[in-house]
Amino acid sequence: MAKTEVKTSLLDNMVGVGDMVLLEPLSEDAFLENLKKRFDHNEIYTYIGSVVVSINPYRSLPIYTPEKVEEYRNRNFYELSPHIYALADEAYRSLRDQDKDQCILITGESGAGKTEASKLVMSYVAAVCGKGIEVNQVKEQLLQSNPVLEAFGNAKTVRNDNSSRFGKYMDIEFDFKGDPLGGVISNYLLEKSRVVRQPRGERNFHIFYQLLSGATEDLLRQLKLEKDFSKYNYLSLDCAQVNGVDDAANFRTVRNAMQIVGFMDDESQSVLEAVAAVLKLGNLEFKPEVRGNGVDESKIKDKNELKEICELIGLDQSVLERAFSFRTVEAKQEKVSTTLNVAQAYYARDALAKNLYSRLFSWLVYRINESIKAQIKVRKKVMGVLDIYGFEIFEEGADNSFEQFIINYCNEKLQQIFIELTLKEEQEEYIREGIEWTHIEYFNNAVICDLIENNTYGILAMLDEECLRPGTVTDETFLEKLNQVCATHQHFESRMSKSSRFLNDTTLPHNCFRIQHYAGKVMYCVEGFVDKNNDLLYRDLSQAMWKANNSLIKSIFPEGNPAKINLKRPPTAGSQFKSSVATLMRNLQTKNPNYIRCIKPNDKKAGHIFTEALVRHQIRYLGLLENVRVRRAGYAFRQLYEPCLERYKMLCKQTWPHWRGQARPGVEVLLNELGIPKEEYSYGRSKIFIRNPRTLFKLEDLRKQRLEDLATLIQKIYRGWKCRTQFLLMKKSQIVISAWFRRYAQQKKYQKTKSSAIVVQSYIRGWKARKTLRELKHQKRCEEAVTTIAAFWHGTQARRELRRLKEEAKAKHAIAVIWAYWLGLKARRELKRLKEEARCKHAVAVIWAYWLGLKVRREYRKFFRANAGKKISTFIVQRIMQKYFLDMKKKLPSMSPTDRSWPPRSYLFLDDTHKELRRIFHLWRCKKYRDQFTEQKKLIYEEKLEASELFKDKKSSYPSSVGQRFDGDYMEIHTNPKFQKLSGSIEEKIIVADLVNKINRANGKGAVRIFLLTKNNFIVADAKSGQKKAVVLLNDIEKVSMSSQKDGFFAVHLKEGSAAGSKGDFLFSSDRLIEVATKLYRTAQSSTSQKINIEISDEFVVLFKQDKVCVKFIQGNQKNGNIPTCKRKNNRLLEVAVP
Ligand SMILES: Nc1ncnc2c1ncn2[C@@H]1O[C@H](COP(=O)(O)OP(=O)(O)OP(=O)(O)O)[C@@H](O)[C@H]1O
Ligand SMILES: [Mg+2]
Repeated sequence: MAKTEVKTSLLDNMVGVGDMVLLEPLSEDAFLENLKKRFDHNEIYTYIGSVVVSINPYRSLPIYTPEKVEEYRNRNFYELSPHIYALADEAYRSLRDQDKDQCILITGESGAGKTEASKLVMSYVAAVCGKGIEVNQVKEQLLQSNPVLEAFGNAKTVRNDNSSRFGKYMDIEFDFKGDPLGGVISNYLLEKSRVVRQPRGERNFHIFYQLLSGATEDLLRQLKLEKDFSKYNYLSLDCAQVNGVDDAANFRTVRNAMQIVGFMDDESQSVLEAVAAVLKLGNLEFKPEVRGNGVDESKIKDKNELKEICELIGLDQSVLERAFSFRTVEAKQEKVSTTLNVAQAYYARDALAKNLYSRLFSWLVYRINESIKAQIKVRKKVMGVLDIYGFEIFEEGADNSFEQFIINYCNEKLQQIFIELTLKEEQEEYIREGIEWTHIEYFNNAVICDLIENNTYGILAMLDEECLRPGTVTDETFLEKLNQVCATHQHFESRMSKSSRFLNDTTLPHNCFRIQHYAGKVMYCVEGFVDKNNDLLYRDLSQAMWKANNSLIKSIFPEGNPAKINLKRPPTAGSQFKSSVATLMRNLQTKNPNYIRCIKPNDKKAGHIFTEALVRHQIRYLGLLENVRVRRAGYAFRQLYEPCLERYKMLCKQTWPHWRGQARPGVEVLLNELGIPKEEYSYGRSKIFIRNPRTLFKLEDLRKQRLEDLATLIQKIYRGWKCRTQFLLMKKSQIVISAWFRRYAQQKKYQKTKSSAIVVQSYIRGWKARKTLRELKHQKRCEEAVTTIAAFWHGTQARRELRRLKEEAKAKHAIAVIWAYWLGLKARRELKRLKEEARCKHAVAVIWAYWLGLKVRREYRKFFRANAGKKISTFIVQRIMQKYFLDMKKKLPSMSPTDRSWPPRSYLFLDDTHKELRRIFHLWRCKKYRDQFTEQKKLIYEEKLEASELFKDKKSSYPSSVGQRFDGDYMEIHTNPKFQKLSGSIEEKIIVADLVNKINRANGKGAVRIFLLTKNNFIVADAKSGQKKAVVLLNDIEKVSMSSQKDGFFAVHLKEGSAAGSKGDFLFSSDRLIEVATKLYRTAQSSTSQKINIEISDEFVVLFKQDKVCVKFIQGNQKNGNIPTCKRKNNRLLEVAVP
């Protein structure tokens, strides 16, 4: 920043004059002198107004350092000493700030330093424009495109060791901020003839030498190349090495640049393969081979070279070989194949090499464009940099060919545009704008341009016409045509020209013509014009190339695709170039031009040498002096009133901020107000013209200052606004926050109050509830207490009463106890006394006994031996017996007759006694047992005993009858009113009354009857009505029969002749057979004193009336359960099946 504050000027430390406009006196000599002086002081740049004149120093000067870049950055054009950076900065800033597309036109002859200048401009712009990773990458790619294109498109010439052999126009694109977005490169006609032939002292394109010197052994092997330049026909040998140029290092730079630009490894490899193929094509040699028809046919001498080429590009060897031997011409669907002679084969070879190389070059430009093109689609600002091949003349006139013609035409056009925009347009503008103006003469080269490009009689049109014309066309016919058409043109000369002025000119050979260019006369040799304009490549070759596997080579020969055969002639080289130059010129005219006019100080490419004649010549043809004149007479700056007012309106109160009305009065008011002297400016019709740049700078300075003030004002207002907005926002926020906070606080408070109220409420409710509870409890307790008290009272009373009663009882008991105790005491005392008495008595008795015994023993001692033993044994036996019986008395078993236990005997000799005693005891207890029976019980037992005697072990149903009671009367006839009549008719005691089945002899089935037994007879009566059916005296019973089995059948046989017997016997069945039979037997015995015979047999005869029926008992099946069934088998047999 400090730097910008230092006021420097173009005029400070000036060597000569920095701006030729200030030159005094203005003459060619002074101009030259000024340039020389400056050149000698290493000041290579000089201004003519806004045009930069640059003299090639041919040495490196310390004026392109980053510090210099910073120095010139954002500075006014005239503020510092002249520099190409000042121009670049001016162009860049007006592009960025004023939105004007720019173009930088660099002109000058070959070796004047155009390419260097263009690179300086680009590097400056790259240094000052935006920064950032992406932006830097774009810049780097833009800058690195230069080494690639230079390697392939530049060559050493006699005039320049790094001469551009193609025209280049590069559009650098920027966004609204001035950051680079990308770029587009257009290339113009490469001098491809150089590929196959170079003038003496010149080289082929750099890349060939760089590849051979710089490639690794490995790469060379892959490309089938050798390091030695002399091995290649296309490389001229006289100047293969260029002083100060390291081809090998440059090769590395190129490869690195290719990588940065974005070439893939395989792409780079393909490019190098194509280059190698071109080199090797030059080594193909042909020999004639005579064919049958006597025509020479060319054949390739060394097939090995061909093989290697084909391997490089991936092509079948025979295809290329054939393409060098034959040529197919297609016309109206007819194909005609002709053989090529050796010359034609060489021509074809060179044509292929040239085409291959130039197409490769165009592809490189296309590929670089792919990489550097802007990635985003936004409105772009453009800065175009034009670096075209410089004007050139070969000293030996015959060497100037079609290429030089084209190059010089291009330069002519560029000079034209310079004249158009600086000299002509400027002067015309003054007149148009009504500014007072005295015309300044200058040479307008439009007439030369017209000579070349005119559509009807222009040289290029003639050439095209000649090329398209049927019949034999040669360069000579073309020259003839030129002689006819252009002979009278003042800038055209030829040997045959009718212009008398040149008749004496013997320097002009017959095959040449001469054009008087703006920069001097150039003699062109017509040889090759037609051919080069046609740019003919046999279709067989392009088709062969299309067949290559190398995708790059295939892609650059699209017309070789048989599917896309186009019989239309391609446009000629000349017309193509003309149209592309026209497009370029149109493009340049839409942009704001910035000129760099390069001057070459000497022909020796040497520093410090200033060849005045050479420079003077350039000053002259470049029209620099005229430029200064126009500049001096005119105005340095002009601008439409509207933008001018817009730009400076802030400098005056009346126009700021708005000027209401026309722009011109506004500008007038503005300039008056600023007090700028009247002679410093003029008012045109639509523009204001400012004479001196200094005035403009003054305006700019004022504007800058004012802008700063305004910026401060805006800043102030903005800051105020910002603070206020901030404040208002904060205030608003504060209100919102406080509202929210209050709301929150109130909510909290409310919630707290609410919860407190609830707490208080709950406490009160609780308290109330507890109170009520307490009351209720109290009430309840009172009630309970009353009950309890009453209960206690009753209890107390009851206890009192109980106590009283207990005490009464206790007293009574005590009395009784005491009495009992007293009695017990008395009894015990008495017992004691008695016991004592008894003991005393016993003792007295014992003592007495002892004493007696003693006495006796004393007395009877004399007899003792005779009787004592017997007596003692008797005594002992008696004692033992006594003891035995007493013991037995204690051990006697129970009184139950069924108890079989008996104590064991204690003395063996009492065994019999013991047994006898047991028997006696058993009999005794049986008697005792019997004695306790009543009469009735006795009767029952008698009956049971009787039954046992009668049926035990005879009748199977007997055991089950033992446990049953023999009740006899089971019907209670006397009490049952149903049998009142029956009972009335029986006076005797009923012994048995039970229901029996009377068996019907007819079918064996039973009918229920009442069986009654009395003392004298038995009665059979109807079970329902109680009507008597039969009454039989017991006396009439002869016997009773029954089976031995479990059934209840029994037959009562009656005595023959008895009253009852007439009806026959009875066959009954009874469940209580044993009881009935026993009672019948006993009753009959007691009443008749006769025993009824009871016959037990399983087969017996029953007499029914007169019939005898046998009743047979068999073991039956269990069909009817345990009930025996009776079946009549026949008249004489009833069969009873017993289960
Ligand atoms: N500003 C400079 N500083 C130092 N040397 C320079 C400068 N300009 C040019 N040269 C030298 O002059 C030589 C030729 O310059 P350059 O290639 O730019 O010429 P040109 O005008 O492009 O020629 P051509 O028309 O043949 O392409 C450069 O190789 C370089 O050595
Ligand atoms: Mg150049």
